[in-house]
Amino acid sequence: MGLRIATKKDLKTVTDLYKLTIKDGYFKFPSVNMNRHISRKQAVVFEHDKKIIGCFIWQINKILNPITMKRGKNTTAWLEQIMVLPEYQGRGIGCDMMKKYLSIKVTEFRLVCNESLIGYYEQYGFEVVDTIISDKKQKVIMSRTA
Ligand SMILES: CC(C)(COP(=O)(O)OP(=O)(O)OC[C@H]1O[C@@H](n2cnc3c(N)ncnc32)[C@H](O)[C@@H]1OP(=O)(O)O)[C@@H](O)C(=O)NCCC(=O)NCCS
Repeated sequence: MGLRIATKKDLKTVTDLYKLTIKDGYFKFPSVNMNRHISRKQAVVFEHDKKIIGCFIWQINKILNPITMKRGKNTTAWLEQIMVLPEYQGRGIGCDMMKKYLSIKVTEFRLVCNESLIGYYEQYGFEVVDTIISDKKQKVIMSRTA
């Protein structure tokens, strides 16, 4: 039981998990996106009795310096998705995955979420820094320094 880096063999399971849990996500082709994150080793799964019950994926962006137009040392880890099978939600699995995500060595953490999840991410020190319209819905961008 616990967390491990996802492999290609997990692609179908994590794509199905995505389709089941993310109702208004922005991945039109979830398997393509999952495949990309798995190839880059930017996908972690949570296993229980050899069954995948949770997953999170992220992406690293190096921040562009607007003066020099060079990418500096400051890096952001965007939390692209975090999900837990509905029947396992509320048992701390999301918390374990958030702690793992927040251990990535970057200078900033960022994510986009529905307004209904602001409280969830505030528990981990995130604060709203902007709003965007995505899929015709208002969403928020939240940030936390490392
Ligand atoms: C969000 C998600 C990953 C959390 O995983 P989880 O395993 O249920 O989370 P945990 O068990 O670690 O934490 C649950 C805690 O967060 C709280 N919580 C859950 N949703 C919340 C919200 N919208 N606002 C505030 N707190 C919230 C719960 O009350 C619970 O608190 P408690 O521990 O004091 O009882 C899971 O609910 C999920 O997969 N949701 C569907 C997919 C999704 O929306 N993902 C986010 C995309 S941005």
